[in-house]
Amino acid sequence: MPEFTPIAQDPSRPVHVPVLLREVLQNLQLGPGLVVVDGTVGAAGHSRQIAGRIAPSGTLIGLDRDARMLEIAAHQLSAFPTHLHQASYAELPRVLAGLHIPAVDRILLDLGLSSDQLADESRGFSFSAAGPLDLRFDTRQGEPASDLLARLDEHELAELLERFGEESDSRRIARNIVAWRQRSPILTARDLADAVASTGRRGKSTDRGGRSHDDRHPATRVFQALRIAVNQELQQLETFLGGVLYDCLKPGGIAAIISFHSLEDRLVKQAFREPNSWQLLSPKPIAASPAEQRFNPRSRTARLRVAKRL
Ligand SMILES: C[S@@+](CC[C@H](N)C(=O)[O-])C[C@H]1O[C@@H](n2cnc3c(N)ncnc32)[C@H](O)[C@@H]1O
Repeated sequence: MPEFTPIAQDPSRPVHVPVLLREVLQNLQLGPGLVVVDGTVGAAGHSRQIAGRIAPSGTLIGLDRDARMLEIAAHQLSAFPTHLHQASYAELPRVLAGLHIPAVDRILLDLGLSSDQLADESRGFSFSAAGPLDLRFDTRQGEPASDLLARLDEHELAELLERFGEESDSRRIARNIVAWRQRSPILTARDLADAVASTGRRGKSTDRGGRSHDDRHPATRVFQALRIAVNQELQQLETFLGGVLYDCLKPGGIAAIISFHSLEDRLVKQAFREPNSWQLLSPKPIAASPAEQRFNPRSRTARLRVAKRL
């Protein structure tokens, strides 16, 4: 039985394509009987393959903050005995305690958002969405992005865009957004995308880690910054890397983390650098092959880091 409250929708046709699937499966060194946590189960693209490899005696525990994604995951994983929880991966100790499992063999995080969330017009994740600009993974917690955007003054907004979006043009964009919202409120994703596009901001850019981003829309970094802020994404990752991951893995257990921008990747890299806690299994971050990048453009900015807990 899934341990969350399901929301009615069609969960049988997820659109998300898992990134770095082959690399994740290889590096996790899976086998029958292992206890594995997928801390960002999403549409279960990775988890389905993991579940098949640890069957019949293994245990899969899937977490997601988004009830709709858990509905899809439950459908995709119905052939396997699985524990699904609506929780942040930062809350893993509480979830494991509830299952009377002291520590696990493998933990996977695939950060960010899924294509199914992007495709859901009611969430505000895609630039063209006419629904409310919400951007929360768990709509029971925190405030929608439209409220945050209405509340921040120009200076605070510029700081947020710079800090969480690594947006080089943050001051000009903030000024334009504030001018726009004085004329009409920014309530939908489309309103925000139009407000940012009105600044004439260029689309293509590189983050501080030197990664070229698929910024085809000029508002890419603005949406990223707001999403990170309303979901407190970096705090969640810091809490997880600051002790949760180590404490929840058995000695010899393996952690695999996929990040999509340098703010996240930097935190993962620093955490795995601790020599008394981790042995790096991927000395360099693993990127998607050219073939995968062509087939699945989302994979272009993905970086996988893998480490063994000492
Ligand atoms: C990139 S998707 C995962 C896709 C999944 N690996 C697959 O192949 O279908 C990321 C998922 O993480 C979830 N998420 C984001 N932050 C989270 C957090 N702190 N704890 C748990 N889930 C989170 C999102 O709701 C989203 O469903």
